[in-house]
Amino acid sequence: HARQPIIAGNWKLNPSSIQEADGLAKGVASLLGDETCASSSAADCTEVVVFPPFPFISSVVDDLAGVGVGVGAQSIFHTAESGAYTGAVSASMVTSLGCQYVLCGHSERRTVFKDDDEAINKKVLKVIEDGMRPVLCIGETEEEYDAGLCADVCKLQLAKDLAGVSAAAMKDVVIAYEPVWAIGTGKVCPCDVAQTVHKTIRDYLAELYDRSTADAVRIQYGGSVTPESVDELMAQPDIDGCLVGGASLVAEKFARICNFV
Ligand code: G3H
Repeated sequence: HARQPIIAGNWKLNPSSIQEADGLAKGVASLLGDETCASSSAADCTEVVVFPPFPFISSVVDDLAGVGVGVGAQSIFHTAESGAYTGAVSASMVTSLGCQYVLCGHSERRTVFKDDDEAINKKVLKVIEDGMRPVLCIGETEEEYDAGLCADVCKLQLAKDLAGVSAAAMKDVVIAYEPVWAIGTGKVCPCDVAQTVHKTIRDYLAELYDRSTADAVRIQYGGSVTPESVDELMAQPDIDGCLVGGASLVAEKFARICNFV
């Protein structure tokens, strides 16, 4: 691979208890214990990250200690680090728990929680400011895809969501291309289509920044990734990883995805 592969598991609003969350994390730890970067000297070993819900982060960090699997947060509050913001969770809070990554702009955040591009941009900047790495999720809806607007939608989201992010900071930004119509639907984007979109995203990053910055950015594919579909996706030259939802909730499936061939 041209870039270090990165496989991430987004647990979303799952599982429903700390006991189950620990069970899942320990399952991942035991299956991946000998496979991750922690135990590999290879420069291109696969980086693995999981994104548990906020209340489980601390315990999952403990469960995965020494295994070489990173932990991230599914979101953060972008407006303030502290104060009168009931229900909010700050970047510094999740940093202090050991999070290295934060998801920004996931389509479920955009739709259900009304995160707009301005808010997503602030989150991205905040995450970088706090020394963590954003995983910026972008992607078109089914209607936009059918109307041939996929590239335009992705470019507009990139331009707005990355405003003010320096070329130097981009080396720590991961982009996740997630066609909304492929999320949780079982409809994986055909590999050749996904490769074309990833290439379009990379070329656009070269326009926004420069070619060497664009060539260093890791771009994940997300949307119904399974053990059955991962190998062909990861064989595409511009697909550097996967952001996995449903299949990341079953330790055996997630471990198989991390061990793509
Ligand atoms: O963040 C993960 C994506 O939304 C994909 O979810 O694998 O359940 O389709 P999924």
